[in-house]
Amino acid sequence: MRPLRRIITVSASASLLFLGLVILSGWGLSGSYVPSLTDAFPATLYLEKYSSGGHLLRSIHYYSSSGLVFSGFVFLCCFYISGFAAKYRKTWILGVVLYLLIIGSAFTGYVLALDQNAYWGTKVRLGIVETVPLMGTAIADFLRGGATFNSATLPRFFTLHGSVLAAAIFLCLFLLIHSWKSVFIQYLSDQRFNVTLLVSIILFFILIIRFSAPLELPADPADVEYNPRPEWYFLWLFQFGKYVEWAPWIQSGVLPLLGVGFLFAVPWLRNHGQKRRSAIAVSWCLGWLVLTGLTIIDDKDLPDNPNYSEGMAIGAEKNFNRLCVDCHGPGGLGDGPEAQAFDLPTPDFTAREFWNNIDEQQMIIAVRDGKGNDMPDFGGSLTYEQILALIHHIEKSFKPNYQE
Ligand code: HEC
Repeated sequence: MRPLRRIITVSASASLLFLGLVILSGWGLSGSYVPSLTDAFPATLYLEKYSSGGHLLRSIHYYSSSGLVFSGFVFLCCFYISGFAAKYRKTWILGVVLYLLIIGSAFTGYVLALDQNAYWGTKVRLGIVETVPLMGTAIADFLRGGATFNSATLPRFFTLHGSVLAAAIFLCLFLLIHSWKSVFIQYLSDQRFNVTLLVSIILFFILIIRFSAPLELPADPADVEYNPRPEWYFLWLFQFGKYVEWAPWIQSGVLPLLGVGFLFAVPWLRNHGQKRRSAIAVSWCLGWLVLTGLTIIDDKDLPDNPNYSEGMAIGAEKNFNRLCVDCHGPGGLGDGPEAQAFDLPTPDFTAREFWNNIDEQQMIIAVRDGKGNDMPDFGGSLTYEQILALIHHIEKSFKPNYQE
């Protein structure tokens, strides 16, 4: 019993800590977010690459929400096994509601960055929602603000994520803290607890500072070959869906109804002893683990989806071969077939003098606006980011003694 109590305390504290971090970082993120089809990705990219602290904010939000899903799950499992659910019914129900709200936030937050994974993953998820018996289409249409992904979709998801669900989470959290007020005060006045809390926060920051929240290329609705990957905690559901393709309502209707129904019914179920409860909780976890493992095995041959920088680098190589090789030549020597007819020589990207006399800014301007009589302008057909990636590609491929 004692270790169980300890896990409950630790997972509850961790959940509250993660929740606090998610809320604070979410506040920060919503300050610069723009929920529109054209601006959501650039706003996210700007935050990730060019603003100070934006990268860290995204990481905190992403990893603490993942941590929250995990610690909340551990808390609910142990609370259930210990039999507290029947003893502290209100806490259990509030905890379950809070957890479901958190899952709802994960669902609605996923699309906001509007990169490839966000767009295609959300399409898959909404496809699953559509198979909910009787009201699936109505729910999906409500979430999308129409029958297809359209300009109303992001504002809806953003409102649900940042206002509606956030407010409901606040309310639950307030009620939970209120009903355990004396315990909280006791913990917060405990020196050892506060030191542990502080050390945990610092450790968490050190851990995540090296990882970034994923960001892929901007959503491309024409790229139907793209394979979205769900978050680790939804993998099992996707795997399960594969086995019931013949009856998708089992995945979208029966399973959630049984799961949620069971969670709400727990405090009133006949109390059948800790052994039995442990067996039930362990089988749930095993089922989860096996299904998650099976997805990973199934997907191991799928190519990894490139992150933003990798994707831009691949695109830059393609663009160079498509748009620049005719003049600059495949080796960057300025000896492409078209260059033969020019009066002035096309620069040799492998020559040291070329790099001595130019900087990145000048190169960007030359590609954007064109140069001399023969270098065309690409400002109309390439974005700033694509031009920058091209310059990096040229540097990496041709610059003598190039260093990363
Ligand atoms: C039609 C031929 C042609 C094509 C296509 C072309 N270039 Fe050029 N490029 C030139 C010529 C000629 C120059 C030299 C211009 C001058 O200095 O007057 C040049 C110069 C440059 C320079 C050096 C600018 C400077 O300030 O010295 C860069 C960088 C460059 N090109 C990049 C590119 C990239 C990237 C592409 C493909 C997106 C590209 N070029 C496509 C002909 C071309």
